[in-house]
Amino acid sequence: MRERHAFEKWLTAVLTLGAAALAWAPAVPALAGVDTNFSCYQCHSKKEITPWIAETWLESAHARAGVKCPSCHGNHDAGFDSPQFIAHPGEDKCMSCHPIRVKESLAGKHAGKVKCTACHPWHTFSLAVARDPEICRTCHDSEHAKSYFLSKMYVVYKVMGPKYSATCQRCHMPDGDHNISDTVSSKELMLKVCNRCHSASFAGSVLAKGRLKTHW
Ligand code: HEC
Ligand code: HEC
Ligand code: HEC
Ligand code: HEC
Ligand code: HEC
Ligand code: HEC
Ligand code: HEC
Repeated sequence: MRERHAFEKWLTAVLTLGAAALAWAPAVPALAGVDTNFSCYQCHSKKEITPWIAETWLESAHARAGVKCPSCHGNHDAGFDSPQFIAHPGEDKCMSCHPIRVKESLAGKHAGKVKCTACHPWHTFSLAVARDPEICRTCHDSEHAKSYFLSKMYVVYKVMGPKYSATCQRCHMPDGDHNISDTVSSKELMLKVCNRCHSASFAGSVLAKGRLKTHW
């Protein structure tokens, strides 16, 4: 009896320590704070499936915030044609979590023509890419757009960064406003944007002459 009692004590101690150790040990070595212990990641991170996609998701703000593959894709447990699977997630999927950005986008001329992923590459959904004027150049080649890249403004942006100069985004998406038509349809709003860096009289006369249409 006594022996058994000692054994039980020892066993309890080992189990308690073991449980504590398990609670501390990560299930899979991964980036700090990111849970990768779910089936989509486990399978897709294998080198014969889509490891690059798993890895780029892993480094994204979505992964850090716990937004996993099924939030956008559902699952293909019942096959790639099943209604629970979304191979090409669109705005409707982003809507549940980013309603303001989706509604703004749909209110401007990008609606129905420019997907979220045109500026936010999957799966990094990089803000750095979205903020760079080069991404706008992939579709826009009017005189106005082309001459921006020949302007001093662009050179200052390229050399010194966005704090010091204007970009397409800064003039057309001030404060991240995704309605691309807001500042085009209102000279008053546009002037407020210019006024963050220039005097109202200088910028006002530039706008009145329509100078930015063709040269800067
Ligand atoms: C057992 C392995 C496995 C698991 C688990 C798994 N997948 Fe897949 N998945 C695959 C394979 C294999 C493909 C096909 C890859 C290819 O076409 O090169 C695929 C393709 C996909 C595609 C692309 C389909 C297309 O038409 O381009 C998406 C999106 C996807 N999976 C999402 C998910 C999501 C979300 C989960 C978790 C709910 C998941 N997968 C779980 C193996 C898996
Ligand atoms: C925030 C939403 C989102 C999340 C989270 C997400 N995806 Fe995607 N995924 C997309 C979008 C958008 C596309 C591009 C769809 C299109 O336009 O064709 C895509 C495309 C894909 C494709 C096919 C395109 C390609 O480059 O091969 C695969 C495979 C895929 N995702 C797998 C995954 C896996 C695995 C995860 C989790 C590790 C994941 N996705 C997480 C939104 C997401
Ligand atoms: C389940 C909710 C959810 C869904 C669905 C979702 N997102 Fe997100 N998204 C988030 C969260 C949470 C963050 C992180 C917010 C933060 O860090 O402040 C985020 C961040 C982002 C960012 C900023 C990335 C960064 O590096 O800071 C972009 C861009 C983005 N999402 C675009 C999309 C797009 C496009 C879709 C649809 C294809 C989508 N998201 C679907 C929840 C979601
Ligand atoms: C024309 C390019 C473009 C398109 C298309 C676009 N975005 Fe963005 N997005 C940006 C830029 C630029 C930023 C960074 C804004 C800033 O400077 O903070 C951004 C930022 C974001 C962010 C980061 C947090 C925030 O709210 O500012 C989210 C989330 C986001 N976009 C979601 C979406 C969704 C959802 C769609 C599709 C409906 C979409 N975006 C379409 C350019 C775009
Ligand atoms: C995938 C292609 C694509 C990308 C990328 C893109 N645009 Fe557009 N843009 C369009 C299309 C298409 C229209 C609508 C043209 C029309 O209907 O007249 C448009 C219209 C516009 C308009 C005119 C709005 C109006 O009311 O007249 C502005 C401003 C604009 N885009 C700015 C941008 C900026 C800034 C970026 C980069 C952050 C960008 N676009 C990225 C395709 C794109
Ligand atoms: C310094 C602010 C500023 C910058 C930077 C800027 N724009 Fe504009 N954009 C304007 C103004 C002002 C108008 C209205 C022009 C007019 O009608 O007088 C305009 C008009 C537009 C229009 C609608 C009219 C047209 O010409 O089609 C589009 C599209 C556009 N810009 C895209 C872009 C793109 C793409 C970039 C970057 C390559 C860019 N803009 C950079 C201020 C700017
Ligand atoms: C984020 C700051 C910023 C914003 C916003 C901005 N600019 Fe500029 N602008 C600059 C910088 C930087 C330069 C290049 C510096 C220089 O000319 O010495 C410049 C140069 C110019 C020039 C060329 C000056 C010359 O003769 O060389 C014109 C014209 C101009 N901006 C008009 C505008 C108008 C109009 C707006 C609003 C639609 C605007 N800018 C918005 C920062 C900005």
